[in-house]
Amino acid sequence: MHYTELVKGKVHWIGVNDRRKRLFENMWPLEKGVSYNSYLILDEKTALVDTLEDRAAGNYIERIEKLLNGRTLDYIIINHMEPDHSGEIKDIYNHFKGVKLIGNQKTFKIVEAYWGITENLLQVDDCASLDLGYHKLKFYMTPWVHWPETMMTYDETDQILFSGDAFGSFGTLDGGIFDDEINDSFFEEEMRRYYSNIVGKYSNMVQKALAKLQGIPVKAVAPTHGPVWRSNPAKVIGLYDRWSRYEAEEGVVIIFASMYGNTEMMADYIGRKLSENGVKNIRIHDISRTHISHLINEIWKYNGLILGSCAYNSEMFPLMENLTRELQHMNIRNKYLGLFGSYSWNGGGVKNLMKFAEEIKLELVADPAEIYGKPSDEKYQQCEVLAKSMAEKIKK
Ligand code: FEO
Repeated sequence: MHYTELVKGKVHWIGVNDRRKRLFENMWPLEKGVSYNSYLILDEKTALVDTLEDRAAGNYIERIEKLLNGRTLDYIIINHMEPDHSGEIKDIYNHFKGVKLIGNQKTFKIVEAYWGITENLLQVDDCASLDLGYHKLKFYMTPWVHWPETMMTYDETDQILFSGDAFGSFGTLDGGIFDDEINDSFFEEEMRRYYSNIVGKYSNMVQKALAKLQGIPVKAVAPTHGPVWRSNPAKVIGLYDRWSRYEAEEGVVIIFASMYGNTEMMADYIGRKLSENGVKNIRIHDISRTHISHLINEIWKYNGLILGSCAYNSEMFPLMENLTRELQHMNIRNKYLGLFGSYSWNGGGVKNLMKFAEEIKLELVADPAEIYGKPSDEKYQQCEVLAKSMAEKIKK
């Protein structure tokens, strides 16, 4: 895809798909790739909204030149400085002589630190405007969604919100770019994964950003990853509102760490009992098989969370320790929590899960279920209590 028009003759999507990068931020798996979206506004003045990851940029400058058709590029609007969007700034700056960079005070600190650029900067503050001719742009500071300098650019004329990472999804754009061209259920999952992995830690700041944007008519949301939402932008704005309030669907994620299968047997038992108690959405994951990125996504999705760990050198299993630490960093909220585990010679798994529960302050639905040795029918009683209690809580 060279480019495509968001607004006929005036606003062009000029993004790329990246199917080579395996880990986003060198951490989050990209099984289905990712797109980087950049936009070019052709008006009396011309403006590029965000750029691309440099290693995926390909013939980006050529594509811009083709659209400019001999005209000059007047502005680069920098909504976000993470290198997947700022990677091409220096090349564009050097190529289009005299182009002005638009950003805020915090943007320009990073611009200088990354690219050594200190000239041709046009600083904008919250609610500042820029007249391109037909398009009247307005800038909204949305700090910590998810970096300190993040801002959004709103086109008052065509009511397009260039939102940066907000409302973005993992996953390449396989032909369809706009929400009316695709089956968006895949992207809803990948948008939640992007949100929970990358942005969710700053949910309170997302709420502040949404409050700031409330009342602004939005006909299209144009993020820096994933589809452009021009048919039903209210859908993704609503999703972000729910996720940043930690509102979740009814269901339970059971995540277990098991060395010899005993804790796994408990996970399956609890899952069965949840089902017998009427829970329809139950997901069971072995922490040694499923990447934490997907675990966090499912934790965000459902209102019940049950963690199980075997003892490992008198501690919990290291991968479970990593998950609990990540959940603490993310300040996860609004989950009902259940705990279980097993041990063979000394405890440690459940004991340390209890410490986690105390620190994170999620509501424990029952006493933890802990089994010494192999599970058996007579040892499962506490698992049954845990499942019943969780089922009752999540359905309220
Ligand atoms: Fe898509 Fe925060 O970068």
